[in-house]
Amino acid sequence: MLNWDEFHEDDTTATEASASTPAAQQEAKAATPSPAPDQVKDSAASYQVADQDRLARARQALSELDVAAGLEELEMGAARIEVDDKQMINARADLNQLVPFKYEWAWQKYLDGSANHWMPQEVNMNADIALWKSADGLSADERRIVERSLGYFSTADSLVANNLVLAVYRLITNPECRQYLLRQAFEEAIHTHAYQYCVESLGMDEGEVFNMYREVPSVAAKSTWSLKHTQSLARADFNTGTPETDQELLRNLVAFYCVTEGIFFYCGFSQILSMGRRNKMTGVAEQFQYILRDESMHLNFGVDMINQIKIENPHLWTPEFQDECTQMILEGTELEITYARDTMPRGVLGMNAAIMEEYLHFICNRRLAQIGLKEQFPGAENPFPWMSEIIDLRKEKNFFETRVTEYQVGGALSWD
Ligand SMILES: [Fe+2]
Ligand SMILES: [Fe+2]
Repeated sequence: MLNWDEFHEDDTTATEASASTPAAQQEAKAATPSPAPDQVKDSAASYQVADQDRLARARQALSELDVAAGLEELEMGAARIEVDDKQMINARADLNQLVPFKYEWAWQKYLDGSANHWMPQEVNMNADIALWKSADGLSADERRIVERSLGYFSTADSLVANNLVLAVYRLITNPECRQYLLRQAFEEAIHTHAYQYCVESLGMDEGEVFNMYREVPSVAAKSTWSLKHTQSLARADFNTGTPETDQELLRNLVAFYCVTEGIFFYCGFSQILSMGRRNKMTGVAEQFQYILRDESMHLNFGVDMINQIKIENPHLWTPEFQDECTQMILEGTELEITYARDTMPRGVLGMNAAIMEEYLHFICNRRLAQIGLKEQFPGAENPFPWMSEIIDLRKEKNFFETRVTEYQVGGALSWD
């Protein structure tokens, strides 16, 4: 824990700052004599000033600063920004001004995401450590699920974070969306931290877990699919501005928000949450539940961005492009079904690969419908009604109203 006094070791305000009540603070303030004007003058001369040569070089550099060019860059004297100047991509409006807001939904998600703040160390892992280390605590199939989940997620969230920061951020030309992207990027860092914290707490082989994304085929296939969709955008010379490059950005958003975060996370999440419901690995499951709460908002934000870009650029949403996006979502669903078969060769935790397949078809339909595409598995139902309380986006409002409030007062999530 940081101690305020450590910050103020040589600072006379330390007494004032560490006083616990307003009255005590006032008293401390009164006890500290105000310096007389001539004392102030003395104290300015009482410390050593910067090296004269160094100071001269700094002043010289400032004298050479091309202020006129800088002002041109900042469009000095340009008309003040209007809401209508703002757009999702290829905007020419000043990106340094957050307001006036155009996309209230983006700002609201930034506020909601910030209200959900949590850290991995807040979750008690003691029961998990005891269970993981006991010889007959978990079955071999259950252990496999924990290992595969941590193996996939420990690197998947880094792929998502890198895509956000290195590819998407600079191409989304709207300050309130960027504000949420910054929040999301930090949440991805917390998620990677959470997986690392689980791996460390359980004493797992780090090398094995963090290399699973390139050593275990069902895990590697998903990571490779995601990486394929970030490569062209991450190139320094890539830019939007033509129908082809604008569609390339949309492809990336569908690949990362709808497929990676919207499908690839769902087999592992439901397996671990099912484990938690059975009172096993409850610490890991609690971490996953907090992560899932964040992820459902990432997904919703991505869907809102995609739909807004469609509204502002209807020429991009051609029948051929819609076909391509449908195909991408189907590819993602197939990869997740393969992962389900690999992680569940037999029935385990009240689920099996066949039930998971129907669940993933249900999820696939939802992802398609969310961006205005036709469902590909009409009639597929959610076989895990207990998951719907947390994940089903139609119930998101209830979910946040109850769980977020619980978290903010320091309560733990419950396993209903
Ligand atoms: Fe994440
Ligand atoms: Fe995410």
